[in-house]
Amino acid sequence: MDYRLCVIEGDGIGREVIPIAVELLGHCMPELEIESASAGWHTFESCGESVPLATLNALKRCRAGLFGAVQSPTRPVPGYRSAILTLRQTLGLSANLRPVRSLAGLSPRKDVNLLVVRENSEGLYIGRERATNDGYIAERLITRSASRRIAQAALTAMRQLGHQQLTIVHKANVLPLTDGLFRDSVREVFAAETDISVSELLVDVAALHMLSQPQQFQTIVTANLYGDILSDAAAHWCGGLGLAPSLNLGDGIALAEPVHGSAPDIVGQNKANPSAAILSAALLARHHWQRDDVAKRLEHAVRAAYQNHGADLSHSGTQTIVRTLRAYL
Ligand code: NAD
Ligand code: IPM
Ligand code: MN
Repeated sequence: MDYRLCVIEGDGIGREVIPIAVELLGHCMPELEIESASAGWHTFESCGESVPLATLNALKRCRAGLFGAVQSPTRPVPGYRSAILTLRQTLGLSANLRPVRSLAGLSPRKDVNLLVVRENSEGLYIGRERATNDGYIAERLITRSASRRIAQAALTAMRQLGHQQLTIVHKANVLPLTDGLFRDSVREVFAAETDISVSELLVDVAALHMLSQPQQFQTIVTANLYGDILSDAAAHWCGGLGLAPSLNLGDGIALAEPVHGSAPDIVGQNKANPSAAILSAALLARHHWQRDDVAKRLEHAVRAAYQNHGADLSHSGTQTIVRTLRAYL
């Protein structure tokens, strides 16, 4: 099999953490062929597009990508849309896996091992906002097909990870049509899976449980925005955003990216933790290339580093973290 990787560093600390993740992944997979491409705010400023066609083509050729983060203004800029949203949509990356695991020596709790499976293609993220007389309306799309698709992605990941407990998170008390459809579609897909227990929680209570009893969760499946918010909250239990990985999955194509953003507050200061990017590369190896051996090696390096050096490692600077991780690879 050919292992090809399209590398998109993006903006801000994406440019600091991605080269490190690529180096460590390449160390575990010497056969890896790398192709570089650009996307993000700086790309938009220089060529008028946040995702140039050449980048889309490179990803389609490689079928696997590693993406850093991009910066986005919070006010509308004509012609601009966040590169990661464009990539998810254009490449049909309809599922986002966001695992959170306790790390000895770092995590505030030792027994968290959960997976947020975030629907990645619709909900409020269709980006349809329009004006009314007195404000704006944002449309939120939930379809049966996308809800069944994300349920199937959750099931596949659960089988791969040996999870037997699924929690559907929704807000069907307020949105009975859209979130009711999401919940019912997921339940239909899981109806025949008699060894998996399926429960449901409203998203506000789910947020409370995420804070008070995160160890009660195995796999959570949820709509796009709820998954965005819950996965940042869950990241607290693995040591924060510097340690939280994710994988966008489509049909035979995958794009790994840390959960964090471009972190303009620490850019260029040797403070960015590359662990989330490295753990994202591990997810690509496990779920896309079926290379559990590579995933375990990268994860072991991060786990061993924190176990032996403790939470201070996170504050020791990017270069010290890299040196330490290399030593455990
Ligand atoms: P952020 O994730 O960039 O930063 C939040 C906080 O976490 C900051 O204090 C930052 O210093 C810290 N942090 C993040 N990653 C870290 C790391 N690897 N090591 C150490 N500390 C880390 O979120 P934000 O500040 O809300 O957003 C900044 C920009 O990033 C915005 O323009 C936003 O749109 C964008 N963003 C992009 C993505 C993406 O491209 N996938 C994801 C989230 C945010
Ligand atoms: C994430 C980010 C993105 C999202 C932003 C940058 C558009 O927060 O990947 O979690 O909301 O999906
Ligand atoms: Mn987010």
